[in-house]
Amino acid sequence: MPKQFWKGSTLLAPVPAALVTCGTLEEPNVLTIGWTGIVCTRPPMTYISVRPERYSHDIIKNSGEFVINLTTSSMCRETDLCGVKSGKDTDKFALCGFHAVPAKNVSAPLIEECPVSLECRVTESKLLGSHTMFLAEIVGIAADEKYIDSKGKLNLQQCGLMAYAHGEYFALGRKLGDFGYSVRKKKKNHKKQ
Ligand SMILES: Cc1cc2nc3c(=O)[nH]c(=O)nc-3n(C[C@H](O)[C@H](O)[C@H](O)COP(=O)(O)O)c2cc1C
Repeated sequence: MPKQFWKGSTLLAPVPAALVTCGTLEEPNVLTIGWTGIVCTRPPMTYISVRPERYSHDIIKNSGEFVINLTTSSMCRETDLCGVKSGKDTDKFALCGFHAVPAKNVSAPLIEECPVSLECRVTESKLLGSHTMFLAEIVGIAADEKYIDSKGKLNLQQCGLMAYAHGEYFALGRKLGDFGYSVRKKKKNHKKQ
């Protein structure tokens, strides 16, 4: 099949559609962020890229803190709403029925309804062009106990995570494998005769 070659763009997919919280427990704000990812394992580091005109931009710049809350299919509509309404004139927590709860390591609150939240402290910010990239250390994780089994394993598959690809939202589907499964030796099946 012949390929079409286009000019460079942001077409990396899927990416998360994360709900990023900032501000304080008393005055929280939340915006949807697609431009995020992990950039280092030790120390655990992430980034979010935010346009300077967003209400959240200066809150994050001044506080140096934010929380990345993972989103689920059941909150798809609210995730979209938080990406089209501004905290400048809307209380998005009230609009979406979200509850702001305290984080452990930062003043920015968590969203109680989200299964996993990454508490982040900004280490560097860089205006790249349209967006400011906030590079941050992930200083703590808050995970909903209902997804942690008796062995302490977090079962993300049960959360119903969602993803964003080329302007559209998708529910994550069935599990296809796990890290390293392609080279792992199969366990022998010891059947009793
Ligand atoms: C799926 C989706 C992803 C988005 N990703 C980003 C992003 O990565 N960076 C950004 O600055 N805005 C992004 N936006 C737009 C902001 O979420 C939106 O402008 C929001 O209203 C800003 O809220 P605020 O003014 O309360 O800060 C995204 C919106 C949607 C719907």
